[in-house]
Amino acid sequence: MLSVTGLYHCCLCLSSSSLLSLLQIQNKLNKALDDMSASMCTLKNGMSYTKQLPSKGLSQSQVLDKIKEYKTLSNDSTTGLVFVYGDFAWSNPLHPDIFPGVRKMEAEIVRMTCTLFHGGANSCGTVTSGGTESILMACKAYRDMAYERGVKFPEILAPVSVHAAFDKAAHYFGMKLVHIPLDKKTMKVDVKAMKRAISKNTAMLVCSAPQFPYGIIDPIEEVAKLAVRYNLPLHVDACLGGFLIVFMDKAGYPLAPFDFRVKGVTSISADTHKYGYAPKGSSVILYSDKKYRQYQYFVAPDWQGGIYASPSVAGSRPGGIIAACWASMVYIGENGYVDATRKIISTTRKIKTEIQKIEGVFVFGDPEVSVVAIGSDVFDIFRLSNALMSKGWNLNHQQFPSSIHICCTVLHTQPGVADQFIRDVREQVAIIMKNPKEKTTGMGAVYGMAQSIPDRSMVTEVSRGFLDCLYSTETNTSHMNGNGRAH
Ligand SMILES: *Cc1c(COP(=O)(O)O)cnc(C)c1O
Ligand SMILES: *[C@@H]1O[C@H](CO)[C@@H](O)[C@H](O)[C@H]1NC(C)=O
Ligand SMILES: *[C@@H]1O[C@H](CO)[C@@H](O)[C@H](O)[C@H]1NC(C)=O
Repeated sequence: MLSVTGLYHCCLCLSSSSLLSLLQIQNKLNKALDDMSASMCTLKNGMSYTKQLPSKGLSQSQVLDKIKEYKTLSNDSTTGLVFVYGDFAWSNPLHPDIFPGVRKMEAEIVRMTCTLFHGGANSCGTVTSGGTESILMACKAYRDMAYERGVKFPEILAPVSVHAAFDKAAHYFGMKLVHIPLDKKTMKVDVKAMKRAISKNTAMLVCSAPQFPYGIIDPIEEVAKLAVRYNLPLHVDACLGGFLIVFMDKAGYPLAPFDFRVKGVTSISADTHKYGYAPKGSSVILYSDKKYRQYQYFVAPDWQGGIYASPSVAGSRPGGIIAACWASMVYIGENGYVDATRKIISTTRKIKTEIQKIEGVFVFGDPEVSVVAIGSDVFDIFRLSNALMSKGWNLNHQQFPSSIHICCTVLHTQPGVADQFIRDVREQVAIIMKNPKEKTTGMGAVYGMAQSIPDRSMVTEVSRGFLDCLYSTETNTSHMNGNGRAH
């Protein structure tokens, strides 16, 4: 977070501000901001900003040399081993005056990502702690824009397949999430239904590129036309596949436009900690224009601790994560990302094609990126999940309708892995098909049961109990019951 606290203290005496006219305050603030950007954002001789991924990934020693360069931006006198994270582990972008190297890295992560998504000169963004925070920030920004228009009960219009982070945003920010149904065949959002749901309360439209459950990209160009026509912001959630889809063209798998090239797309979330290969705890939220980012910011002008300005949810933030994210991006470089993307997409396409041939199961829609979701009209798909789990495959389980999906990573692209998966699915489906109506057992039965409980509040209570268990330090938890309280 950017805290301008300390700097404002030296430039402007708050206790006597009542004596200053508003204009004087404005001038002083402008001066303070100028001083601040001069002291914080001026680079040393010969330094420049990295705005694009290097076309060829840097070598490890080049990255470490670069890291040293960033370190010279601060007066940090610590010496010792050069570990990217270790070097920046104690830095905190909440204090950009003290940690200018991390500020520069964060600005560059945002700029490089804007470039990947074809953002124009006025595109911008911030680094966050993960996809959820990126999504929270976009929803918060658009809620505040709706409030400004006089909307009292702002609504998010999002496909039913959208990530639960939008439910969380609605819950946290007092918004209403209106789920738009999917076309049952393509699993893409039904654009006509989206259009019908638009009202004076609509704060934003959402598409995924791709969504998590079935790995399908929504019809972004069509929804963007609605956004333009009704003058609404459109968020594209590319948290999962953002760092694949931007490289697919170069990897030989072109897609329909999904980013700022599409008029009407106003923000994009993309997780560096998924296919960006950065350590967990980093993501990017991008806006097509600075006017949207303004609404994301939080400022407490009257705090006793000083004027407090912060770009996102967190206060203090881990500089080490930002440094490691930056280092991952420049180490992998465009060539590294394109290579990884080519491998992952070709592996996923092979899995899709082969699964589609197996009798008794089907693939949902036509997944274009890294997720393939499998269903069955003949048997309970969670039986297949049990069978594959016992073979060591870790799959995700979806509900309404039941499906399981595989999310391909670099690990699955290693020789023989995809073939083994296809073989296992083929064999296990053949076994199940001998007795398609047999009852599901084990974990598979639990997944099935969980979605058939009509009282969803009960599922919520049990889930809360599960969360409590995560924090339990008791050896005997048999007195805990569902919600974690003793009964
Ligand atoms: C992972 C994911 C998110 C949320 O990201 P977190 O990093 O888990 O907070 C949002 N949208 C999609 C499509 C995702 O796959
Ligand atoms: C670093 O030290 C120099 C000289 O002592 C000083 O002018 C500068 O403001 C310091 N920078 C930071 C980021 O502390
Ligand atoms: C665990 O707690 C329950 C209920 O409080 C008790 O009946 C049971 O004996 C305890 N088990 C052990 C191993 O202490």
